[in-house]
Amino acid sequence: MSVRGPALTEHGPGLEERGPGPVPVTLSVNGTERHVYIEPRVSLLDALREHMALTGPKKGCDQGACGACTVWTDGRRVLACLTLAVACEGREVTTVEGLSEDGELHAMQKAFIAEDAFQCGYCTPGQIMSAVALLAEGHTSDDEIEERMSGNLCRCAAYPQIRAAVRAVRDGS
Ligand code: FES
Ligand code: FES
Repeated sequence: MSVRGPALTEHGPGLEERGPGPVPVTLSVNGTERHVYIEPRVSLLDALREHMALTGPKKGCDQGACGACTVWTDGRRVLACLTLAVACEGREVTTVEGLSEDGELHAMQKAFIAEDAFQCGYCTPGQIMSAVALLAEGHTSDDEIEERMSGNLCRCAAYPQIRAAVRAVRDGS
């Protein structure tokens, strides 16, 4: 007997009732269409890491507290651990793997290296995804950079270097 919950259409436009078992899900990730067969309860983070071998987004807390899983959907930052993969159909998902172009690192990635903005590197993909997005959003003052990077925790406490990297990209230096 199948057990069905409330229709997803009650929670968002264009989402149909599916599951609870594995269902086909199509996602556009870093410009490539990806097809996975997952339960609707699977997070975007697990879909990326476990089903697409995209391990740039990191699982730090898996409860929305650390920012290590930060990716973009349609250019907006989201915590992939709190986002259902099935809800990302029809959106463009970008992970840190999608930042480089033609094998060349993004300016923010280069700045993190130049400013020594990581130690273990576990938080770094999430830091970089937040950093690129906040500058694109026009949050460019030193205070805004500090405030809007505050959701990305770094257990190695590389915060001064991280902020220096963001400022370097802002200043084009
Ligand atoms: S793993 Fe998503 S916020 Fe920590
Ligand atoms: S560099 Fe280690 S957690 Fe940030």
